This record gives sequence, C-alpha cells and structure tokens, in this order.
Amino acid sequence: MENIIFDDCKKDLPIDQLHNIFTLVGWSDGSETDEMLKAYNVPFINSTLVISAWENRKLAGFVRVLSDKMFRSIIYDLAVDPEYQRIGIGCTLIKKCIEHFPNSEWLVQTKDHNANFYEKIGFKKIMSNGSDVFLNIPCKLFSIEE
Ligand SMILES: CC(C)(COP(=O)(O)OP(=O)(O)OC[C@H]1O[C@@H](n2cnc3c(N)ncnc32)[C@H](O)[C@@H]1OP(=O)(O)O)[C@@H](O)C(=O)NCCC(=O)NCCS
Repeated sequence: MENIIFDDCKKDLPIDQLHNIFTLVGWSDGSETDEMLKAYNVPFINSTLVISAWENRKLAGFVRVLSDKMFRSIIYDLAVDPEYQRIGIGCTLIKKCIEHFPNSEWLVQTKDHNANFYEKIGFKKIMSNGSDVFLNIPCKLFSIEE
C-alpha cells in the first residue's frame, strides 16, 4: 500500500484502464460498442466525487459518488484491480469518500458477498432484495431515526 497514491481531483479517468478494471472484476464482457467505449468515463466525469488509486501511472482502483454534499451520498462503481485487492485500497477509497462529506448519510447497493466489506467500515444493512443488499451509514445531522 505504501506505493499507492490516492487522487480525489481527477474525474476523467483513462478509458482503457477504467475499462480494463471493469473487465477484470466482471462488470464488462467486452460487448460495448465503440460509442459506449468512447463515453466510458462520462459517469465518472459527471459524478460529485471520484477517488482513484494509482501505482505510478497504473490505475489500481476507483470509486465514484453522487452527493448533495450534505445529507445524502451514494456510492457507485467501487472496484479494485484483482492484482491490488486485499491490501486496503477499497477500504481507503471508501474512508476517503466519507471524509469529504462526513455528516452525510452514505448509501450503497451491493452483492450480498460484499456486505462484510462495508460492515467493517461501519455500514449497517438496511434492506435486502434477495441478490442485492443495501447498507448505510446514517446522516449525522438528524437526531431522530428516519
Ligand atoms: C470489494 C472490493 C472493492 C474490496 O477492495 P479491496 O481493496 O480488496 O478491500 P480491502 O483490502 O480494503 O479490504 C478491507 C477489508 O474487507 C475485507 N474484504 C475485502 N473484500 C471483501 C469482500 N469482497 N467480501 C468481504 N470482505 C472483504 C478484507 O479482508 C479486509 O478485511 P481486514 O481489514 O480485516 O483484512 C474488491 O474486492 C473489488 O473490487 N471487488 C469487485 C468489484 C465489486 O464487487 N465492488 C463492490 C461494488 S459495491
């Protein structure tokens, strides 16, 4: 982890490296059209916050967040290149997101097998629909449970 640099400014992540990690984690099967590939990083560019992890110029992982910067923040597309997994990058990416808007509610939808990863960071399960689970950290600005 000591060689890994985290960047919270760059949103236009390099499409080839972004797509490579999407493929490695099984989110892309390579069937995108050229048009889709050209726009691959648009959801990142249009997100409120993007944090990426780098070893020199190699993208090792990333996460993006949609947020009102106060009450509600939603995590999307957290992924770490399998070569770099289990060394703390995913956890650091999420903790760095939370540091940006520390009072906000944090919400994530993920597969059941990832729930434990988020629970270690402090998220609690709020709902499950069979295959996906929803976890959150409540907003610190409300004293009454919603
Ligand atoms: C989920 C993911 C981002 C975790 O990234 P990572 O860098 O490997 O995670 P970390 O090394 O920071 O792990 C933090 C802790 O969670 C645990 N952990 C990591 N991945 C886990 C998983 N999938 N399920 C349960 N626990 C997990 C680690 O063992 C570690 O625990 P420890 O601190 O007690 O050793 C990574 O496995 C990944 O990219 N998966 C494929 C894409 C995906 O499913 N993303 C989630 C979308 S919401």
